[in-house]
Amino acid sequence: MDIRLGTKQDARQIAELHKHEIASGFLASLPVRFLAELYKGIMAFPGGFCVVAAEDEEVIGFVAGITNVKSFYKYFLTHAFHAGVFLLPLIIHVGSIKRIIENLFYPVKTENLPQAELLSIAVKHTYQGKGIAPQMFPSFLEEMRERNVGSFKLVVGQELAHAIRLYEKLGFRFARSIVIHGGEQSKVYIYDIS
Ligand SMILES: CC(C)(COP(=O)(O)OP(=O)(O)OC[C@H]1O[C@@H](n2cnc3c(N)ncnc32)[C@H](O)[C@@H]1OP(=O)(O)O)[C@@H](O)C(=O)NCCC(=O)NCCS
Repeated sequence: MDIRLGTKQDARQIAELHKHEIASGFLASLPVRFLAELYKGIMAFPGGFCVVAAEDEEVIGFVAGITNVKSFYKYFLTHAFHAGVFLLPLIIHVGSIKRIIENLFYPVKTENLPQAELLSIAVKHTYQGKGIAPQMFPSFLEEMRERNVGSFKLVVGQELAHAIRLYEKLGFRFARSIVIHGGEQSKVYIYDIS
């Protein structure tokens, strides 16, 4: 297995993993084509990256991070529009795009929370429970360190027991519970790198 930085060529496989493995979230309801553009945007954004686990050419796991969520909003809305890559096939308007991104970043009050975030993580179901995510995590931390991030947050649905188990064993600390997406309970965790 190879653990490496994801590239735009991986975006489609990352999107497929997101769609099939993080099935409970809002984004998973969107077309894979749109998700692929979103992940391309994350990897093109200077403060964004994906670490992937690959077996030969197949991406079997990924973890996506961003140093500043608000900056990414602006970047994605402007650059993705200029590129126009996902607008035409989806035929959605500005308000829809904004709603989609707001769902990705959830309308949570982020005062006193780090700007940097672990956005999403998934491992192909046939490889889950085999320690792939913990093997990707050191590379994720290294990418955050290289971007001068001292701590970062993540938001996880409280029903995602495996993910919560993963975060707690990796050393994340629970920060608070929040309600997002029309009533779903989620938990915010923080990781201090330094
Ligand atoms: C959460 C996830 C990324 C963890 O990756 P992973 O490579 O499976 O990580 P681990 O192997 O360390 O497993 C984490 C914990 O969950 C348990 N687990 C994971 N998958 C499991 C499965 N299919 N059956 C039983 N237990 C499982 C493991 O036993 C482990 O707990 P333990 O260390 O106490 O034994 C992965 O399970 C996944 O992709 N889940 C679906 C997507 C998701 O929920 N993403 C997070 C929200 S963004």
